[in-house]
Amino acid sequence: MMRNHPRIIGFLGQGLGHEYGAVQQYLTQASLCTLWGMGDWAETFREEAHQELGHADWLNQRLLLLGIAPTGAQLRPPRPGADLRQMLIYDADMERSAVELYAEAESFATRLRDTETAALFARLREDEAGHLQHLKQTLARMEG
Ligand SMILES: [Fe+2]
Ligand SMILES: [Fe+2]
Repeated sequence: MMRNHPRIIGFLGQGLGHEYGAVQQYLTQASLCTLWGMGDWAETFREEAHQELGHADWLNQRLLLLGIAPTGAQLRPPRPGADLRQMLIYDADMERSAVELYAEAESFATRLRDTETAALFARLREDEAGHLQHLKQTLARMEG
């Protein structure tokens, strides 16, 4: 197996870009909720940002283990949304694209028999699928 397959490095870098972008979006939403006097939601979004930062840490560690210095990722501009419902819709969009990215990365790593990296992408995919599921449930409750 080729240790530093360029597509694997590419997926790790794309993942890192997603995670920093997610930190930025969730943290902006936390700040907005604080300003709106919605302290509980501010706390929820802050916790979310913290989890995404943890994911960035995993990806950084993987890149460093492969002997690659993680570079500054191209960040997607945050889409905080104008009200709580829109925030959750934008977050669901973001999480959905993360699930797709990590699923694609996982199947590529599996085909390459790079089991360690495949396991990392699987863990990330499961976490993001959990975030997406939670957002969908929250939105369904708001509409119901
Ligand atoms: Fe994440
Ligand atoms: Fe997430």
